[in-house]
Amino acid sequence: MFIDTHCHLEKKYYDDIYKVIEDNRKANIDKIVVSGCEKEEIKEVIEYAKKYDDVYLTLGFHPEYADSVTKEDIIWLKEIVSNNKKIIGIGEIGLDYYYSKENREKQIILFRNMLELAKEFNLPVVIHSREATKDTIDILKEFKLKGIIHCFSGSLETAREYIKMGYYLGIGGVVTFKNSNLRETLKELSLDNIVLETDSPYLAPTPLRGTVNSSKNIPLIAEELTKIYSVSIAEVSSKTISNTKVIFNI
Ligand code: NI
Repeated sequence: MFIDTHCHLEKKYYDDIYKVIEDNRKANIDKIVVSGCEKEEIKEVIEYAKKYDDVYLTLGFHPEYADSVTKEDIIWLKEIVSNNKKIIGIGEIGLDYYYSKENREKQIILFRNMLELAKEFNLPVVIHSREATKDTIDILKEFKLKGIIHCFSGSLETAREYIKMGYYLGIGGVVTFKNSNLRETLKELSLDNIVLETDSPYLAPTPLRGTVNSSKNIPLIAEELTKIYSVSIAEVSSKTISNTKVIFNI
């Protein structure tokens, strides 16, 4: 059994959402945590969480929308979060200076607003950080929340810093890529700090790289971790599930 701690589930990526859910179940994926990052996506994923028991949500405005999110949008989101038990975290939120560094200040304001929301509802966070490690760490230190560093692929030093702050590393398809250094970094760390994610429909693991990813591919990522830590697939499953339960109440 596995939990996908971070994925995207929208009609624009998949012809048949029900089939995606069915395929996940067949592949032994017990639960999936779907991320909703902007208004329309949030409205759509709320419907899936209502319909399917195994779909949970983290909602939050992604840094990509830092220029367009309004105060009213944040109030709207707050209202939603306060009324839905399937919302188990705030995310993905964070900073993305690869996407744009010109609106750094706006991204930081949005990020802080989202962290305030997490604090208010006592929810964990799912963090997106790209080319913004220092600012991300500095801001997270102020808030003292718990959560996941989604799609972690940074240095060993950065990993240790996040772990020290109480965060788990979200590990996905990148760990299976031939040209990735992530394997070497993870060898220096422990399975105790890792949760599994696909970030589907993106980042399909090897040998499916380049295809539309979905949560059913989680076992390919888990398989890679069995090699890194010389443990059984059952151990990867139980350890990553218990790590996930430390963060999310599922
Ligand atoms: Ni994502």
